[in-house]
Order: sequence, then C-alpha cells, then structure tokens
Amino acid sequence: MKNNNNRLDITQSDFGLLKSEQKTQLYTLVNTQGTTIKITNYGGIIVSISTADKENNYADIVLGYDNVTGYENDPYYLGAVIGRYAGRIDQGLLIIENNEYKLDLNAPDSQLHSGFNALNKQLWQAKTQHNKDSVCLILEYTCPDGSNGFPGDVCFCVKYSLNNDNKFDIEYFASTNKTTVVNLTQHSYFNLSGHDHGTIVNHQLTINADCFLPMDERAYPTGEIKAVKSTAHDFTQPKRIGDAIDSDDAQVIIGKGYDNYWLLNDNAIAEKELAAQLTEPTSGRRMTVYSDQPAIILYTANYIDGSQIGKDEVCYQARAGLCLETMRAYDHSFRKGEKSPFQRVLLTPAEPFHSKTSLFFDTID
Ligand code: BGC
Repeated sequence: MKNNNNRLDITQSDFGLLKSEQKTQLYTLVNTQGTTIKITNYGGIIVSISTADKENNYADIVLGYDNVTGYENDPYYLGAVIGRYAGRIDQGLLIIENNEYKLDLNAPDSQLHSGFNALNKQLWQAKTQHNKDSVCLILEYTCPDGSNGFPGDVCFCVKYSLNNDNKFDIEYFASTNKTTVVNLTQHSYFNLSGHDHGTIVNHQLTINADCFLPMDERAYPTGEIKAVKSTAHDFTQPKRIGDAIDSDDAQVIIGKGYDNYWLLNDNAIAEKELAAQLTEPTSGRRMTVYSDQPAIILYTANYIDGSQIGKDEVCYQARAGLCLETMRAYDHSFRKGEKSPFQRVLLTPAEPFHSKTSLFFDTID
C-alpha cells in the first residue's frame, strides 16, 4: 500500500493502557518520501518501519505487536531499547572498582539484557521536535540505583530522528552518579520483505568486520578473537544469510543460527564506512547501518518459536527477522576489574556516555 502523507511530520496517538493502568503513546514520524516510523514511549520500542520497495510499494519491515499488551508480554525484546547493559552477565556477578554486585538473574545462571523490568519494560518521558530537516522523538528515563542489582542512578536518553533523505538516527545518552556499566543497543528484528513474509534467509548481508568473537555452549564469548576469513561468519562481501546458516560450522550449530559479536573494522567505527548493509533482492529494499560503536551482533531470531501472536495475527517463527545490534563488544575484563581490550563499558560520573547509530533506507533494482 502506498503512503499518501508526504510531509515531514511527527504526530502522537494513544497506544493503550499498561497492566498498571498507565497510558502509553505511539509517535509517528513521517518524511517526504513516505517513510513512516512508529515508536512507543513504552520501552522506547520501534513498533513499525514502513519503507518503499523498488516499485514504490510500502511494507512494514520490523517484527512487532499490534498493541502495548503484546509488548508487555513479549519475551523476545522485539523493537526495544536494550540496557542498561545489553548482553549476558555470567552468574549476574559484577565487580566494579573492587565492589561486588550480585545482579538479579532472568536466565539460567545469567542475567540477560539487564534482567526483568529493564529499560525495555519502562515508560519513558517523551518530547517531540520538529526541525527544518528532521523530526525527532526524545525519550528519557532515570533508572534508579540498585535496580536489577546495578549501582548508580542513571539518566538515560534515546533520541530517534528521521530526515527526508531516509536516514534514521538513533542516539543514546547516559550519565550516572556512581560508577556502573552501560552498553546500549536497539533490538529491532528486520525483514526487508515485510514483517509477515517468512524468513530472512534470502537476504544478502555485508558486515564490515574482519574478526568475530566465537562463543561457548552457554552463548558467552570464549575470549578468542577469530578471523572471519574462510568461516560461516565471513560477511566482508555481500553474502546470502542462508548460505551457511545451516552448515556444519560449530558456531552456527551452537547458536542455532547466527548470534555472535563481530568487531567492526576501524573505518566503520569512525563512521567513514558502513558497518553493515542488508539487502533483500526481490523487493530491492536495502538498509545500511553506520555506527560509532566497536561491535555489532547479528542475531537471526534463533529462539523465536511461533508462541507469540504478532502484528496482523502473524505468529513469528525462527529466522522471521534479524537484529543488527551495534554496541560495545562483550568485555571479559570488567568482571575481573581489568582494563578493557575493546572499549569501556564502565560509566563514571565524570564522563557521560553518548553513541550514535544511523540506519539508511533505499532500494536497488
Ligand atoms: C542475543 C541473543 C538472545 C536474544 C534474546 C540477542 O541480543 O544476542 O543471544 O537470545 O537477544 O532476544
């Protein structure tokens, strides 16, 4: 279906009540090309992204739910802001400046994506901005000291901006009153054919990374930094996701698909070159990712099992979408109080956090 609204705009509507009876809002960002992005202030969740294919037909290219109740019950982090610490923390044990913190566990012997009621389950304060060339949604939430076991009151801000060139910027800001850890990302599952179009195995992907982090049976990086060359993880040239996802490669077997950190090459981190590029040949839709972050996770929705009813009553199955999560790389060192070999995940009161990832949408013939 074609979008008729060709004016740069941001509007607001009701998105229903939470179990707590708090009201939630849905913000619609639209540009002159008809690209439409819907975001709720519940969890900072991207609910839909509608873009044109090569014949100018629009489709919603992210997985999600029709209403906020779906997101309250969601176990897959569809579309959400992940934090304060994205990823797993073994035994929920955190050592910061010689202080030991025991975090709440929400996965077997682990804390995943900061535990229950993390940033993805909070109601954020929202402000909108209408600039000459872009429209922005600014979301703010203060995560209290001790929440899910983490130290420090942390003020988070996520700024989503859409411009008329089809560039969608996601900026993260955080500041704390006590040293803590922060690693923020966005967990949208993309399917450039349309959210209801089956699997992503025919998508072509490029990742600007010569190395990745193999993981063990428990989905923790082993500590090895491995060259992608001659492995199923080599996306240095455009490659069909399905080519090696079901191969006998030990990593895709452990992950039931792709679920690793790639270490982005220096030219990507400095925002000079793309970090990743995803193309779907039939629709011609293409998404290019730029980021100042040192790593990206490709997660091919390996654990989605059809148990949740998504938008338009679609029951998403494994590989119905894929996440490209820009962030700090998994950091073994902070747990031992050592200095990070990658980029720090420690957030101190002296130095606020800022990062930016941009998604650029276009089509190819
Ligand atoms: C992780 C997966 C995890 C998934 C949960 C991803 O970010 O890489 O290991 O299972 O989130 O939805």
